[in-house]
Amino acid sequence: MRKGLFISLEGPDGSGKTTNLPFVETIFRLHGFHVKTYRDPGGCAVSEEIRSFILSKRDPEHSFHSLTELLLFEAARVQLHKTEIEPFLSKSEKNVVIIDRFCDSTFAYQGFGNGNVKEVLGLEALLFQEAIPNYTLFFNVSLETSLERIQKRKKEYNRLNEKELLFREKTFKGYQERLRTYPERMIAIDADCEARYVKEQLRTRCEGIIEHFHESKKLPIIQGKED
Ligand code: TYD
Repeated sequence: MRKGLFISLEGPDGSGKTTNLPFVETIFRLHGFHVKTYRDPGGCAVSEEIRSFILSKRDPEHSFHSLTELLLFEAARVQLHKTEIEPFLSKSEKNVVIIDRFCDSTFAYQGFGNGNVKEVLGLEALLFQEAIPNYTLFFNVSLETSLERIQKRKKEYNRLNEKELLFREKTFKGYQERLRTYPERMIAIDADCEARYVKEQLRTRCEGIIEHFHESKKLPIIQGKED
């Protein structure tokens, strides 16, 4: 049984979620929570090995079938969830897990991106029904901003070819579909604006989550200090 809070950060590549994860972590720590952070795929030895395998560069003639890729992402996630996240969250109401990506990424990338929506939803229902985060901070960035940031980050990354661009467009649509389906869990953060405004939104939203959590559990509220 989950006692603590499970928060995922989601968004397309270049949306700023990984950069802002330590900031979100600090907010929860300042409010007295014990926080563990992870990335998906990865986060524990087995899942990190699967991550290296999935994300390694492969010759086109030895590339993964899209369903193999899907199953590898799910395998990494099951391992992390069963061995780390679930046990930690079942221990205490003071425990919080913050994770960089989770099931919504699979829906956007393997579901919409690769055209395996039915399979993604089937596996999600089978494996992750009890594992869905309490809240998801969704870094809502435009395709244009996302592409600009990716190109700045990776200097060698010149122009995306048409196929890659189409794939990215589909992942954007996948995320928007997910936002429409889960309006209560998924909290959209405007990630197109300046970094300090993104942080302001994150602080307000996280404090709202904490207040709501305390109300539901009737825990004493610990005031966070300004940083
Ligand atoms: P991530 O660690 O967020 O990438 P980066 O370090 O470049 O920010 O995720 C790695 C890649 O894996 C990213 O392009 C998204 C992809 N991914 C999927 O395709 N499906 C999934 O289920 C997950 C979790 C990630």
